[in-house]
Amino acid sequence: MTYPLRVKRIVRVSLLILLALFVMIQFVPVAKTNPPVTGEIVAPADVKAVFRKSCYDCHSNETVYPWYNRVAPVSWLLARDVTSGRKQLNFSAWQQMPQDRQNRKRKKIWKEVGSGDMPLWFYVPLHPAAKMSDSDKAIVKAWSDAGPAGK
Ligand code: HEC
Repeated sequence: MTYPLRVKRIVRVSLLILLALFVMIQFVPVAKTNPPVTGEIVAPADVKAVFRKSCYDCHSNETVYPWYNRVAPVSWLLARDVTSGRKQLNFSAWQQMPQDRQNRKRKKIWKEVGSGDMPLWFYVPLHPAAKMSDSDKAIVKAWSDAGPAGK
């Protein structure tokens, strides 16, 4: 099928505009932060290991940013997830939460993990090591059920 020249020109100009936009958005500054760790969660080593491998990229101040985070608009999406993830739950500032809030988060963590809502679905294929095995889940559940006594 042959397209009229005019259509070809429109397509070519549109692609150039898209490319120019893509290049331009690379210059929008994005916060890529790791604030100081001020009060990391105290938990048994096996529990902490699970959180570290599956949750810390979004729920701590020790985010490891992947290389593709240098490319907008991916960097914007990641910054948004890390910011809102930390706001909801930050293992690096866990000890600063009052005890009753810690207790609520503890329950909430198993609710999210047990239902498969966390870690976020798109994160796991990109970070296969973060996939939670049944035994990882059992470790988190036991910790969550134990309450504060399960330090
Ligand atoms: C890719 C980023 C990412 C990863 C990885 C991730 N989370 Fe989240 N999490 C978020 C974001 C963003 C929110 C807030 C928005 C939402 O609820 O979807 C959130 C919300 C939560 C909440 C809700 C807090 C509340 O009180 O409502 C809990 C609990 C939670 N995450 C636990 C976990 C646990 C446990 C893990 C690891 C097993 C984990 N998350 C892994 C991004 C992530």
